[in-house]
Amino acid sequence: MKVVTTIAEAQAQARMKRRVLVPTMGALHKAHGELIRVAREYAGVDGDVAVSIFVNPLQFEPGSDYQKYPRPEEADEAFCRAAGVDLLFRPAVEEIYSQDSSTFVEETALSRTLEGKSRPGHFRGVCTVVAKLFNILSPDAAVFGEKDFQQLAVIRRMVRDLNFKIDIVAVPTVREADGLASSSRNEYLNAAERRQATVLHKALLAAEKTDNISGREVVDLVRRTISEAPLARIGYVELVDAETFEPLDVVRPNALLALAVFFGKTRLIDNRLLSEKTSPAAGAAVR
Ligand code: PAF
Repeated sequence: MKVVTTIAEAQAQARMKRRVLVPTMGALHKAHGELIRVAREYAGVDGDVAVSIFVNPLQFEPGSDYQKYPRPEEADEAFCRAAGVDLLFRPAVEEIYSQDSSTFVEETALSRTLEGKSRPGHFRGVCTVVAKLFNILSPDAAVFGEKDFQQLAVIRRMVRDLNFKIDIVAVPTVREADGLASSSRNEYLNAAERRQATVLHKALLAAEKTDNISGREVVDLVRRTISEAPLARIGYVELVDAETFEPLDVVRPNALLALAVFFGKTRLIDNRLLSEKTSPAAGAAVR
């Protein structure tokens, strides 16, 4: 595995092979392992799997966990080696952003709700850094997890709108044995918070099992289920269209239930695409 920290080195890497990029912020865990596995599959045995590790200051809001975001450099490098990564790009902040950087990439439709609404500037930071990584590493494809469902959609939209010739590959959410979505932020949870955080998956499953229920009712059901965990503080629970991310009043195909919940200072997100349902609010089966 080649490890590079500068843009010049990254761009000097001969690019004869098909390259698949896995952009990450490090603190790698089993969900990243799955992204890398899918990247390898997509690249083929002769292809090149590149991983970037960059904790992107631009996507953290002031006062959030940017400074304390875990940066286990050695463990991450060993993780990539063991996973069979070909190229690890691990730049410093100054390498990516000039002090007088004044150009940003902003998606303005899908970013208006959920994460975009709760974390102003977040997707502008994500799009800017992902566009830069695409320009630096010139991948043929890039892999993203569905845990960040809205991020995936925003990146797909950016790729379409800015004509990047890059396939975006989605990987289903990886979960711990008790259902909690794997995330670098799970490390921040104390034992009691970690135990109670399983309520998120439980709430999403409860929503999935309902029938003949309106959008309002399904959101209320999820909120009530989460409230069974005394340490949980809801940021949002919303039902939106999985393509436009606009709020929905009724559960219908392609409805996405998305949530952000705090345990202490740790903010966790999760989501579930709800399958076809009937909705009394719509007066009939909604197709
Ligand atoms: O999902 C992440 O880890 C980050 O948002 C990404 C895509 C690596 C951009 O910094």
